[in-house]
Amino acid sequence: MQEIKKYVESNRQRFLDELFELLRFPSVSADPKYKADVLKTADFVAQKLTDAGVDKVEICDTDGYPIVYGEKIIDPSLPTVLIYGHYDVQPADPLELWKTPPFEPTVRDGKIYARGACDDKGQFYMHIKAFELMMQTNTLACNVKFMIEGEEEVGSANLGIFVNANVERLKADVVLISDTSMISMENPSIETGLRGLAYMEVEVVGPNRDLHSGVYGGAVANPITILCQMIASLHDENNHITIPEFYDKVVELTEEEKKALNAAPFDLEEYKSDLEIASEWGEKGYSTLERTGTRPTLEVNGIWGGYIGEGAKTVLPSKANAKISMRLVPNQSSEEIAVIFTKHFERIAPAYVKVKVTSHHGGEPVVTPTDSIAYRAAEQAIVESFGKSPIPTRGGGSIPIVALFESALGIKSVLFGFGLDSDALHSPNEKYDIYNYYKGIETLPLFHKYFAELSRV
Ligand code: BES
Ligand code: MN
Ligand code: MN
Repeated sequence: MQEIKKYVESNRQRFLDELFELLRFPSVSADPKYKADVLKTADFVAQKLTDAGVDKVEICDTDGYPIVYGEKIIDPSLPTVLIYGHYDVQPADPLELWKTPPFEPTVRDGKIYARGACDDKGQFYMHIKAFELMMQTNTLACNVKFMIEGEEEVGSANLGIFVNANVERLKADVVLISDTSMISMENPSIETGLRGLAYMEVEVVGPNRDLHSGVYGGAVANPITILCQMIASLHDENNHITIPEFYDKVVELTEEEKKALNAAPFDLEEYKSDLEIASEWGEKGYSTLERTGTRPTLEVNGIWGGYIGEGAKTVLPSKANAKISMRLVPNQSSEEIAVIFTKHFERIAPAYVKVKVTSHHGGEPVVTPTDSIAYRAAEQAIVESFGKSPIPTRGGGSIPIVALFESALGIKSVLFGFGLDSDALHSPNEKYDIYNYYKGIETLPLFHKYFAELSRV
């Protein structure tokens, strides 16, 4: 640990400067206008892997953005750690809400503000610096493979193809991912589950053209009103989702599991005051931690239609649209849920409108083991670095690749995240604490050390 701290100490500024360089690339995968920047980011990541001492670094083309791969095999008899991360980021909109520009990283109060600071550039870059540290201090204890993709924020559509085509090359004993959160630095934790996702888009069409709302209003159904009614009907008075068969495969937690989950430190008052809401909301009969970690949900992500320009326009619009996504839990399947949703939405459409439902990306839920060698290695690394045992928690977000690694490669993951829920992922003013960045770089080599040690016995 002393040697680790010394190395980080003497490279502090450079570690930060390099991350800043990475953060300056606007690698927004969702928006084609950033294509050249996303590609440049892949080049940068490849160069940094090479500089750190990774072998066989390759920018692997896909039908979308490339996957940066590299490996360091020091001894085939040692365990292999596959590190996954993503160099793409979410769009920075709405720009006017940023205090400083999203792609000009700025430090305020010990925190780095930039799009991707935490999700996931700041987090995957810790692994490259931890790897450099292990190389320079001659302490690399495991074989290491890096796989950093550029389409996570848009559903990783091409990753499955890559994984299935590279089963041999990706062989590893564990997948290590820093793309999740901890409760706090005082209460270190490890996420042991992620929700899946089924993302849908709906269109409700009424008359064949926009109409004068005075001439026709009251006699022809307004698609926006109908869409709102349809959406409102998807939850009942207990905030339970009303789609038939939706909960059929959901597994209820045992009393013991519930107790363990709710034992994690969580302050509802603080939660509410942080969000400036008078009251929390959710499915009746479940706590907030249960609602986000273990229950499936349905959210409207966007809704549009009619006139939204300056001033007023009296129109009865021809159509209305919405983006609706559902978070899934074990053993729900994103494909099945997409079908169940589509059938239901078509069925509840009244005769005076037509509906069209299309399916975007999906991802499967996972629960990661807490009795594995890899989990124990992560636990010991945290004990040594934080002086406290990590609390296992269930995360509400999704990382579709985790289930895929399991089904395609048979490898389980450890979600070794150093972010905080308050890091404003996907929001304006995303941040990552400098403290967490260095803490991650110091803790990760301990994972490799303990994983090698525990694998030996
Ligand atoms: N890193 C997040 C997921 C995450 C965040 C998990 C915090 C746990 C805690 C990831 O980049 C992400 O945003 N995933 C998307 C899914 C994807 C298919 C667009 C998500 O969860 O919405
Ligand atoms: Mn992420
Ligand atoms: Mn994200």
